[in-house]
Amino acid sequence: MVYHETVLLYESIDLLGVTPGGTYVDATFGGGGHSRLILEKMGGKGRLFAFDQDEDAKRNTEQPEFSGNPGFVFVPSNFRHLKRQLRAEGVRPGTVQGILADLGVSSYQLDTAERGFSYRFDAALDMRMNRQDGETAADLLNARNAEELQRIFSELGEVRNAKTLAHAVVREREKLPFRTTGDLVELCSKNLMGERMRYLSQVFQALRMEVNDELGALEDFLKDALEMLAPEGRLAVITFHSLEDRMVKNFLKTGNINGEINQDFYGNISRPWTLITKKPVEPGQKEINQNTRARSSKLRVASKI
Ligand SMILES: C[S@@+](CC[C@H](N)C(=O)[O-])C[C@H]1O[C@@H](n2cnc3c(N)ncnc32)[C@H](O)[C@@H]1O
Repeated sequence: MVYHETVLLYESIDLLGVTPGGTYVDATFGGGGHSRLILEKMGGKGRLFAFDQDEDAKRNTEQPEFSGNPGFVFVPSNFRHLKRQLRAEGVRPGTVQGILADLGVSSYQLDTAERGFSYRFDAALDMRMNRQDGETAADLLNARNAEELQRIFSELGEVRNAKTLAHAVVREREKLPFRTTGDLVELCSKNLMGERMRYLSQVFQALRMEVNDELGALEDFLKDALEMLAPEGRLAVITFHSLEDRMVKNFLKTGNINGEINQDFYGNISRPWTLITKKPVEPGQKEINQNTRARSSKLRVASKI
């Protein structure tokens, strides 16, 4: 099994502007596709810190281009702790030349039944990227109240009958707690609205994003990235979800995730970034044909002022 088919590889690394001798971060190592090209461009000079919170991803660092490179450092951590982890490695704020994040889950995570990310297999309903920490998707379904569940389905999954589904979850768990992906698929099948696969994808995506607090982690990461970058250092982010893309777009335009413009007492506007991509870069038809998962990807890049 291929661990992960890298999305927008050349576009993202070109725009990151990697040069030999710099300090770089790949916040989402996964199968190492982006890291491999960053190291190539670094030509054996400088350092690359690669983060991943999934201990299965660490195995990919055993490949010689990583394990044999003294400038490569794997950081087994959530990227929301970017600043703390880099400081622990001796990297000072304001000194990093480039940071890349390719958000979401890897194909390996989706295709490995026992991780519980996919409605295609019957397995424990887990969905944690970091299996050492936090509540599983089953815990969440068995514990949250109907209003919370409705918010999750509706905001993160755009599930049209979020309220109906939330109440159905609460009724069902009174009979028997949720344990497996199959339990959830069965309940969804009784409450389907629209096309079956699309409905299941939306429900599973919403739960995954909540279990891993993906929007919260992205917010913390963006703030830390701005602090860690050197002037003219670049941030490149690939998103797969409209809420993530909006957050990145706002942050790169204004320095705030809600898009509020910072003005001083005299009305001067302070912007921390110069946009390198005025519009998001999207994959071409050829890439989409080869890798359907690339379909919803959007790349935004900016340079710190
Ligand atoms: C889309 S994959 C990255 C693929 C990689 N760019 C490649 O080419 O192989 C996302 C990876 O980031 C990790 N990840 C997602 N959110 C994370 C977070 N908040 N902190 C650390 N790692 C995260 C996942 O575990 C997964 O391995």
